[in-house]
Amino acid sequence: MSILSKTNISRHLTKVCSPSIYSSLYRATTNSRNLSTVVDSPKKIKLTFYSEKDKYDFEAAVGKTLLFEAKKSNVGIAGICEGKKVCNSCHVHLDKKSYQIVGEPTEEECDIFDLASGIADVYVPGSSRLCCQITVSSELDGAQIFIPRNSLQ
Ligand code: FES
Repeated sequence: MSILSKTNISRHLTKVCSPSIYSSLYRATTNSRNLSTVVDSPKKIKLTFYSEKDKYDFEAAVGKTLLFEAKKSNVGIAGICEGKKVCNSCHVHLDKKSYQIVGEPTEEECDIFDLASGIADVYVPGSSRLCCQITVSSELDGAQIFIPRNSLQ
């Protein structure tokens, strides 16, 4: 993570900006107590993944997929095809509020659910989604996400 000094910011801005834009940007960037957070870190939200045996609380970056962030935080979810929509091993159950936020699965996602063997007993209408197809958004802060047994690592 890089930390920029006020001098470096000033030098850079004078090269690339007009004077009026320069002063606005300089004020905005140097008013931050922790500039590296503003420059390098995406917004993060809190998520909970859980299974029948385990619980994982972690922070996820907005804009990434749920699967990517879960795997990065060592959540015990398979996600074998890593988001290529062919394996169904990232199937999760979302809490009601989160499901309303992310919406229904696409037709392609539904096809994957239809083709998956052994999923009929764990598929829950209005809750089941492939977490590799869900983008983390601010609205999902505090989401509770269940990992059914066929998605465990
Ligand atoms: S990781 Fe394979 S379908 Fe989501």
